[in-house]
Amino acid sequence: MTPSLSGEPHLEDTLTRIPLFAEIDRVALAQLAAHLDPIEFQEGDTVCRQGEPGDCLYLLTSGRLGVHVHEAESGASRRIDGLGPGDFFGEMALLTGEPRSATIRAELPSRVLRLDRERFEALVRAQPSSFLAIARVLSRRLAAANRIRLVEEQALAAGVEASLDRLPPERRESVMEASLLDEPADLAILSGDHADTLRMDLETLGVRREGGTVVRDLIRDQLRRDEGPSQVRRRAEVLSLRLAAAGAWDAALGVRAAHADAHSL
Ligand code: CMP
Repeated sequence: MTPSLSGEPHLEDTLTRIPLFAEIDRVALAQLAAHLDPIEFQEGDTVCRQGEPGDCLYLLTSGRLGVHVHEAESGASRRIDGLGPGDFFGEMALLTGEPRSATIRAELPSRVLRLDRERFEALVRAQPSSFLAIARVLSRRLAAANRIRLVEEQALAAGVEASLDRLPPERRESVMEASLLDEPADLAILSGDHADTLRMDLETLGVRREGGTVVRDLIRDQLRRDEGPSQVRRRAEVLSLRLAAAGAWDAALGVRAAHADAHSL
């Protein structure tokens, strides 16, 4: 049994089984091993938390971890993926400088190796194959996230369409028109006495006062499908004139910029 440079038996052997290091020679792996700190987690422990700064890459050598994303706007939390032995994580914050994009939690007793930022950067500079391996995994994660988003948006779009169909025609019309606004705060100008009903209908559909845009964009898409893009542009022009007449200049310009022909700006 040969102790590795980090004092842990067989660490280089473990590293050779990690796809990220597949093309790195044993001497370089032995050097790398000296800079990896093993950490043990019990089931339920948090390895890293979404929103916190990230200063290291992790390699999972045993156990199982769950990747969880929390959506601040809706308050929803979801497990989006699982990680097994040989997987790495924590690369996104290192590459982008952004906070951690997800929370990683142990689902079984797990063991990870921690590589700090400085060593990570030295590794990808010295071993271009490791950078390619990271790019491959990132591309796969992006493709999976796109597929999930598409399926979710289709389900949401079907729900929004059904809710719109349940509204009486004049309330549906008001909702459609309001979807052209960037700021829900401008609703009162548009709908006068009916502002409360409109606000309630938008909230029921999922358009939040604080400005979530996904549902609003789905309603806009529905309007484009119903009427065609040129009619929507005409609507937007009329709407922006109404807003301007009421003195809501920013809202008028916002509607024009978002929907009018580029050459009419
Ligand atoms: P980072 O953003 O630094 O911290 C959280 C980590 O979770 C992230 O890097 C990725 O390594 C990992 N992660 C984020 N999104 C996914 C995903 N969709 N599938 C698998 N892992 C992910």
